[in-house]
Amino acid sequence: MKKNIVVGNWKMNNLKQEALAFVETVNRQLKGVESLEFGICVPSVYIDSLSKDGILNIGAQNMHFEEKGAFTGEISAEMLKDVNAKYVIIGHSERREIFGESDEVVNLKLKKALKANLVPIVCCGETLEEYKENKTKSILKSQIEKAFKDIKSLENIVVAYEPIWAIGTGLSASSDDANEMCKYIRQILSEKYGDAKQTVIQYGGSVKPNNISEYLSKSDIDGALVGGASLTSEDFISLINNAK
Ligand code: PGA
Repeated sequence: MKKNIVVGNWKMNNLKQEALAFVETVNRQLKGVESLEFGICVPSVYIDSLSKDGILNIGAQNMHFEEKGAFTGEISAEMLKDVNAKYVIIGHSERREIFGESDEVVNLKLKKALKANLVPIVCCGETLEEYKENKTKSILKSQIEKAFKDIKSLENIVVAYEPIWAIGTGLSASSDDANEMCKYIRQILSEKYGDAKQTVIQYGGSVKPNNISEYLSKSDIDGALVGGASLTSEDFISLINNAK
């Protein structure tokens, strides 16, 4: 049976001691929680020391689409797998906007993440301007079609709908609007793959301990991708307790 998946994204935050203490506290306090899956995507330098046995899964926030070679500063999917990363976030809007990542690059990364047996969390979502111009659905359709080009199966893939105007702003999409978009993404995927009922589709954008259960109560939202409210163990534990 499909479980909800809640994943934190630390972005470029927390030092090693904070990271170690976070993982220790979360593993201890959430031990035995089985009704949902949860994890945290940390800066890659910490993955190896954090991915110990415990209930908390560890993931990466980015990867390169080549397997190896002269790509100074980059990290491959296989390297992430080698240090026991479970997830990798692909195509986060900050990567797209600040680092110029295109839909084509997202597609190449998705293929390599699957090949390395990572669980890719593929992000999509519209800007404020596109939202105001009522273009959300056409943007989602285009991003999803390009990201999934030549991808044979939905197995192991998580999708995150993250309206860019809701990320880190304290503004969040209403649960009904978020659900409508997650449903739409599922429809696009169903048209391509026949069925997308088992695919986990997360909502992300200012998800907090006090609103997570509202999102998860909706028919087509199967989890959350959480930035700011995943940085401390206290907030993260409240998130998971309220999501159970
Ligand atoms: P936020 O970030 O929860 O701080 O809005 C979400 C994200 O970037 O995935």
